[in-house]
Amino acid sequence: MNEEKYVEIFNLVKAYPNPFGEAVKVVDGFNLNIRKGEVISIIGHSGCGKSTVLTMLAGLNEISDGGIVVAGREITGPGPDRAVVFQAPCLLPWMTAYQNVMLGVKQCYPHAEKAQRRIIVEYSLSVVGLADSMHKYPRELSGGMQQRVGIARAIALKPKVLLLDEPFGRLDSLTRMELQDVILGILDREKITTMMITHDPDEAVYMSDRICMMTNGPHAHVGEIMEIDFERPRDREAIMETDAFYAYRRRLLQFLDDCEAEKHARKQKAAISA
Ligand SMILES: Nc1ncnc2c1ncn2[C@@H]1O[C@H](COP(=O)(O)OP(=O)(O)OP(=O)(O)O)[C@@H](O)[C@H]1O
Ligand SMILES: [Mg+2]
Repeated sequence: MNEEKYVEIFNLVKAYPNPFGEAVKVVDGFNLNIRKGEVISIIGHSGCGKSTVLTMLAGLNEISDGGIVVAGREITGPGPDRAVVFQAPCLLPWMTAYQNVMLGVKQCYPHAEKAQRRIIVEYSLSVVGLADSMHKYPRELSGGMQQRVGIARAIALKPKVLLLDEPFGRLDSLTRMELQDVILGILDREKITTMMITHDPDEAVYMSDRICMMTNGPHAHVGEIMEIDFERPRDREAIMETDAFYAYRRRLLQFLDDCEAEKHARKQKAAISA
């Protein structure tokens, strides 16, 4: 297996049906290889197609053209080798944190022994810092704690690829930083290949090995890829004292500004020709 191309996304296209005319190719010609154990972030303006790419990789969204290969196998649907954490954890309210995590583990490991499953669930909840709250119901947990359960549920599946779609988007900045470090700790230990969507340039730089900047949709694709050259494990304070951190951040903001200007110019042109 090629570790440089552990995830291979080639010529990916997503055309959503349009009731008023031709289908629109939201994503068009998206190409990206992800190395084994790499953490890659996707950044781009709202609506450009980031979640569309991630859900296709998750197998939850049909691929219109092109394809995705994970660990040498082309994906055709969802599978336990890819776990997703969305912005909202969507826990079942009548089940405790433990039972919510166990639900997925039972489905993925139906033949595992009961004791083994219990160890996996307890371990996953303890690495996200919920060892003392695992028997609480979602209503008894804060938003940050609920998201911790969502992360535990994903890592309990021992996925080959972890997919994070703005996992900290709804959290206050302190909780957000805490959870960034929880995820970084897990990734440093388990070396899970990860794709994370974020709107936050600081978060992208702090957490990623590479950042993939996506152009505006429709026909969105990879605009630019930036390598982030900080060693792991990462130290937030030390990183934020470097000039490199601000240079990376500036480049991201510049890319997003350029996209905005391009969108504006395109709208003006369309208005003139209408
Ligand atoms: N099921 C769908 N049917 C039709 N169009 C869709 C569907 N899902 C998404 N779209 C459209 O595809 C485009 C990309 O959506 P997507 O959710 O992938 O963007 P995004 O980059 O994740 O945005 P955000 O940053 O706001 O989460 C948008 O124009 C959206 O309206
Ligand atoms: Mg999205």
